[in-house]
Amino acid sequence: MSLSKVDIFADHIVRHSTYIEKINLSFSQFFIKSASGTLCIETGSRGDFPLLKSNLLSAGIDVASVGSLIVPHFEDDEMGALPEFLALNKSLVAYAHPICAHALGDIFSVKTKLFKDETPIKINDEVIIPIFAKHVHQWDALVIYVPRFKALFSSDIFMSFGTVDDKWANPVEKMISSIEESGYLPSIEYLHSVLIKIRKYDIETIFPMHGPAIQDNAGAAIDGLIEYCVKNRVKEAVDG
Ligand SMILES: [Fe+2]
Ligand SMILES: [Fe+2]
Repeated sequence: MSLSKVDIFADHIVRHSTYIEKINLSFSQFFIKSASGTLCIETGSRGDFPLLKSNLLSAGIDVASVGSLIVPHFEDDEMGALPEFLALNKSLVAYAHPICAHALGDIFSVKTKLFKDETPIKINDEVIIPIFAKHVHQWDALVIYVPRFKALFSSDIFMSFGTVDDKWANPVEKMISSIEESGYLPSIEYLHSVLIKIRKYDIETIFPMHGPAIQDNAGAAIDGLIEYCVKNRVKEAVDG
């Protein structure tokens, strides 16, 4: 069974999410509305696009208004529905890490713009700061910080199993057990280095692609994961 829903945060951030019970995992796509258009972060898979389209329409968003699309890394849940978005808006521009952007342009003939690590860029009047996340489960990954909302769109970092509505007594513990259970991280060292980059931003809300948003004490969640990495880096070094 799968369950889809739309949630709105800070009046302008729309999250569409689908929970797949069989794998106990939710998949989210984010839409930031502004006067000059709609920005999408993560497309969801192609198969889920018809549902995404109709659910967004009920929430007042026509997917044809999506003119800019950020692809955090080259994977189906992050970029699979790009051709569907493109079919509805031929002038759509995709933004990604350089390696990912070249692949997207080559395969989908979409106009791409290359992000530069931690270099602010304006998309639809919105200042976006891409933060590259080397080898965090994909070799061309990144996360997105949006200063206006003090929001981090963390893609697959800070993931947790369960629905987007789950409330964990200890979110850090839940994230760590989810990371360990999924085995999706190639290296604690790389996770640690991106968390250190992330920590210096003023973050109030974290929007993971998988799992609930972290709205209370986001800083503590980042610190908790850093602490986990520090402990396990030693172990990783010893184990080789
Ligand atoms: Fe991923
Ligand atoms: Fe993912």
